[in-house]
Amino acid sequence: MSSKNHPYASTATNLPDTICYLNGEFCPLREAKISVLDRGFIFGDGVYEVVPLYQGQPFRFEQHMARLDRSLLELRIPNPYSKSEWLNLVQQLASHFAQTTNQKVEHTQQIIYIQISRGVAPRDHAMPADCVPTVFMMANPFKPVSPEIRATGVKCVSAHDFRWEKAHIKSTSLLGAVFARQISADVGATETIMFRGDYLSEASSSNVWIVKNGTVFAPPKDHLILEGIRYGLIDEMCKAQSIPFVLRKITKEEVFSADEVLLSSASKEVLPVSHIDDRLVGLHTTHAGKPGPIYKKLHLAYQSFVDASCNSH
Ligand SMILES: Cc1ncc(COP(=O)(O)O)c(C=O)c1O
Repeated sequence: MSSKNHPYASTATNLPDTICYLNGEFCPLREAKISVLDRGFIFGDGVYEVVPLYQGQPFRFEQHMARLDRSLLELRIPNPYSKSEWLNLVQQLASHFAQTTNQKVEHTQQIIYIQISRGVAPRDHAMPADCVPTVFMMANPFKPVSPEIRATGVKCVSAHDFRWEKAHIKSTSLLGAVFARQISADVGATETIMFRGDYLSEASSSNVWIVKNGTVFAPPKDHLILEGIRYGLIDEMCKAQSIPFVLRKITKEEVFSADEVLLSSASKEVLPVSHIDDRLVGLHTTHAGKPGPIYKKLHLAYQSFVDASCNSH
């Protein structure tokens, strides 16, 4: 069977009709091609970033670039671009996206995906010395969580964290995250909250926060979790709102008896959890199974930080 007649070949026509960036060129996403020997394809040997854009402007760009540097350093992949070159590429891609959707860039909310793999080499596990990294970027619409979902909160399930011990790297080796997410997807829940032994780590693609007696707690920034860009942001928002903020190990018991549980990520921003494994969050509070007061403060603070960032450009 030729590859053109392959039954899945038709899915290529279902791809979004947008422009992407691949190795120095902008081209239609449908036409972008990489080598089958790319180590990103063969080994998941690469890193990525997901940068949200509000009113066409990247939010917390410096922090995303700093995390990209940290991930690349771990993989010993040289960063192919400077920060200003990355910013330029993000802005160009954002303009292409706005054009294909007939909008002014400053009226768009986008999610920019950046992926860097080690590059193309004969298949061998050891890291080849002189690979040229493959750089891929695409823009997607940023669909904010609906007010209806924000008003009810989201259901989550708990699971053992069976991923590896280098979770601090934003790596494209994501099978652990895929398996983890599927546990919640199978029961129609939004996220899978994971525990290593008795301790909270994070969710499949979000960080997890608990609130107890007015204090916000999250697990320490170590190799067992990805330090979401919202880690620093929630710290700043708590300071601005005089909310006590503590990073320390959190037990399963503490999660299940928390007054509030929140998720955070670029696309979820901060999002309240209503149930874990069908148990109401904040059972003994007046807002059992509903978004609580600290979530409401942080959600408002988030919007102010976004507005301030947009106004500063
Ligand atoms: C495993 C994991 N933890 C946390 C996060 C949240 O990170 P950020 O706030 O930078 O989106 C993500 C985001 O994709 C993730 O994949």
